Amino acid sequence: MQRPSTKSYFLKTFGCQMNVYDSERMTESLTRDGYSETAEIADADLVILNTCHIREKAAEKVYSDLGRIRDMKDARKRDGKDTVIAVTGCVAQAEGREITTRQPAVDLVIGPQSYHRLPELIARVGNTRERIVETEFPGDEKFDRMSAPRRVVSPSAFLTVQEGCDKFCTFCVVPYTRGAEFSRPLAKIENEARELIAAGARELVLLGQNVNAYHGEGHSGRSIGLAELIRRLADIDGLERIRYTTSHPRDMDDDLIAAHGEVPQLMPFLHLPIQSGSDRMLAAMNRKHKTGEYIDIIDRIRSARPDIALSSDFIVGFPGETADEAEDTLKLVAAVGFAQAYSFKYSPRPGTPASSLGDQVPDEVKSERLQRLQALLEDQQTEFNQRSLGATVPVLFERKGRQPGEFVGRTPHLQLVHAVADGDIVGRTMGVTVTEARRASLSGVIASA
Ligand code: 5AD
Ligand code: SF4
Repeated sequence: MQRPSTKSYFLKTFGCQMNVYDSERMTESLTRDGYSETAEIADADLVILNTCHIREKAAEKVYSDLGRIRDMKDARKRDGKDTVIAVTGCVAQAEGREITTRQPAVDLVIGPQSYHRLPELIARVGNTRERIVETEFPGDEKFDRMSAPRRVVSPSAFLTVQEGCDKFCTFCVVPYTRGAEFSRPLAKIENEARELIAAGARELVLLGQNVNAYHGEGHSGRSIGLAELIRRLADIDGLERIRYTTSHPRDMDDDLIAAHGEVPQLMPFLHLPIQSGSDRMLAAMNRKHKTGEYIDIIDRIRSARPDIALSSDFIVGFPGETADEAEDTLKLVAAVGFAQAYSFKYSPRPGTPASSLGDQVPDEVKSERLQRLQALLEDQQTEFNQRSLGATVPVLFERKGRQPGEFVGRTPHLQLVHAVADGDIVGRTMGVTVTEARRASLSGVIASA
């Protein structure tokens, strides 16, 4: 028998759910290699920062963390211990060798398409002490080479079905950092889904940068869309809930809208970014849709599934945005009504077309517009949650809460719910009568199993 190694790793994940999924896969691969996780950087033989490049703040945070990790590496060196520092994710892909120039303590830079090579690259650093930058796009090799039975997972598990984006919104780095659209074949997704369910998952969140553009190979060899994929997954025993994120309005086809009315496991929640309520801004952003088309999709999805809860992403202060155009976004939000949403100040990203546009909006103006938009969205979220007061809703419990006996789960509308129970109810779906509604969460009393 192989002697267990005592190597340990520290892994920090920034950004989106795709990074969370990738981090889980890296964790599995490191565990197979005999690593154990530590929460203390000072104890780690391997430190991985899985990074996000979407906005400047997220990317800069990585460098400030790296400064502190370098100090830790130096301190460990004085104790005779080696530390390998790896930067993965979208900063790795976008900045490559620049990272090792800016922070020479970094040993490894690995882009999102090369994670299957993690163990081999770590070994190479250990043997040669060379700095390695690996940011090729070798296609779908990653999923196949990282496939191993999934471990015990949260009752709500992520499953990547699609990666990359061909849309090229003018503000966005994703088409450059994650590459061209790629969809995994149905058979491989079904296998991973079965493994996740066997390991304890009750809900699957299908992930893709442009998930509703999914067009993977079906069993007959012809390509299938996201609606068909959802219908196939709904046939698997033990799968109670299906969600998907993130979608683009252009790919919200009739079949997917119909699936919301037909597949009971498909949860009544849709995250559909619009970014702006101004048609001129949408054109400048190269969004390939107008506000009217967005409203039309919302109308159709509400006819198919009247109780659908809506979520979106917004950017304020895109170059050239006028006060009236910012106002148009508020009007759109008022007209649609969102259960929750994310909103951001426009952040110029190197290499994207919008970053070189004139007429950048001053930061104070962006802040003021963001504040007004967020105030409206927060009011809508609070109001949406208050509608649940007194109702009994099915909650899938995902984890223990902070208080003794407290558990935390989600409603079909993705609202966070706190409730107290006697036994361990993680992984169970229970009826909860809602007694308190706040902006970001509900509390309630368990009514039934
Ligand atoms: N600046 C601000 N927000 C951005 N997003 C993407 N790129 C930028 C940027 N350069 C936002 C969009 C997207 C979400 C994931 O992040 O709203 O939908
Ligand atoms: Fe970025 Fe989404 Fe636009 Fe693709 S569709 S470029 S991921 S904002």
